[in-house]
Amino acid sequence: MEENIPDPSTQLARVEEAVAAIRRITDLIPRVGVILGTGLGQLAQKIDVQDRIPYESLPHFPVSTVESHQGELLLGTLRGAPVVCMRGRMHVYEGYSAREVTFPIRVMKDLGIGNLLISTACGGMNPDYRRGELMLLADHINLQGVNPLVGPNVDTWGPRFPDMSEPYDVELRQHALQVSKANSIQLHEGVYVSVLGPNLETKAEYRFLRKIGADVVGMSTTPEVTVARHMDLRVMAIGVITDECFPDTLQPVTIEEVLEAAAIAEPNLTTIMSDVVGVLSEA
Ligand code: HPA
Repeated sequence: MEENIPDPSTQLARVEEAVAAIRRITDLIPRVGVILGTGLGQLAQKIDVQDRIPYESLPHFPVSTVESHQGELLLGTLRGAPVVCMRGRMHVYEGYSAREVTFPIRVMKDLGIGNLLISTACGGMNPDYRRGELMLLADHINLQGVNPLVGPNVDTWGPRFPDMSEPYDVELRQHALQVSKANSIQLHEGVYVSVLGPNLETKAEYRFLRKIGADVVGMSTTPEVTVARHMDLRVMAIGVITDECFPDTLQPVTIEEVLEAAAIAEPNLTTIMSDVVGVLSEA
């Protein structure tokens, strides 16, 4: 999308305005941010919610236009940890710029978070993966063709050339693997490639994406992770495999099937995410 990039002082002021609006509603200082992806709202029910804030009531907040996403911030506690949860996320394919999509990450950081936990629906390309299973992101490839950090750098947020040698925090990944083992949940570890969407990929595209080293493909996550790392947040992300993208046996996929698979995987995802938050609250 064409975007008039606001100057750094305007960008900072917009985040401050959104934070001030939230501060008028809640006194909770969140330490962990959570983003819930397509069909993955169950974790929200585990949160002892203190305040609910619809995105549309906040200045400068983009509003999710995807039917399967609700658009609200939840502030409360999960396993004793103060959290802010994005129930519903925005995507670049909706027509927002990558910067707009990641505005809430800047806001959550200003509210107080040091960790960001992300869930995301994705298509499985690794032949060992099955629909309904989970994959911990170990690394990613951004093929969206856009980057939320393009434009003048806001130096108070982070460096011009942020490091991406380890976007997904090693310690958080270890926690996730430990809690999945303790709960007998299979958790793959692999590489996520982001594409722009909104169409699913052709067989030739799946072959290409697999060949360049990706295990799963999705239409989100890399903008949020890029911005979170820009601000040195610790990041963990789990992909829910909602469909199998094997080029030789590819079947058409409907959004209903994606949501159905998300629902199958959700209890396991919820267990891992809430247990990791529990570990963080003890730290
Ligand atoms: N591509 C293919 N399948 C998917 C995707 C995607 O981006 N997201 C969820 N399932």
